[in-house]
Amino acid sequence: MTFNRFIKIAPSILSADFANFGAEIRAIEAEGADWVHVDVMDGHFVPNLTFGPPAVEAFRPHVKTVMDVHLMIAPVDPYIQDYADAGADILTAHVEAGPHIHRTLQAIRAAGMKAGVALNPGTAAEAVAHVLDLVDLVCVMTVNPGFGGQSFIDMTGKVRQLRAMIGDRPVHVEIDGGVTPETAPLVAAAGADVLVAGSGVFKGGSVDAPQVYGANIRAIRAAAEAAV
Ligand code: DX5
Ligand code: ZN
Repeated sequence: MTFNRFIKIAPSILSADFANFGAEIRAIEAEGADWVHVDVMDGHFVPNLTFGPPAVEAFRPHVKTVMDVHLMIAPVDPYIQDYADAGADILTAHVEAGPHIHRTLQAIRAAGMKAGVALNPGTAAEAVAHVLDLVDLVCVMTVNPGFGGQSFIDMTGKVRQLRAMIGDRPVHVEIDGGVTPETAPLVAAAGADVLVAGSGVFKGGSVDAPQVYGANIRAIRAAAEAAV
């Protein structure tokens, strides 16, 4: 995984058919996904429950690109090794998930993964000012985490601020929530390079009609690239 700031589309399998994850992952990658975004929810940090380490381990052999695991759980630290063992390439923890984000990010890197830190819409960019040397990715939530298909919350000011704070560091800025061809240009112009999209990629398609995934991915990518 070499660092670059080209636009990357990361479909969230939260919007996939939960009875068919392997085929769904293979379909989105065949249709042009750059990364695969995996949303882990615990019914406690967020009001929804998805899957845990055994499921993520089962996804691993199907992911040929980058497995980007977004933890919406608290606490995080007791589970870091489990996600390393499950094969996560990037493990992202929320800055709001506990009092020791610095320790958490150190532990993620020590376990051999790339480290990400996520910020809820109500959290200021300054909350990550002192961990920017410990991360490979900052995830700016553009919805309140917990569910797919919500409306985009404009965080372009926060994205610009984070890009300035990050400076020359090799750190991705990822946008998560409500990404469509209409919203992608706003965040791409502000400096985001990784666009997570759940409903925006999966809507209208299926493993039997994967060309729809391809068309959705291309529409988001084209809109974002035109704004950079
Ligand atoms: C939200 C998740 C997102 C979600 C995005 O809690 O972290 O990754 O799947 O879904 P859309 O793109 O439908 O807003
Ligand atoms: Zn996510």
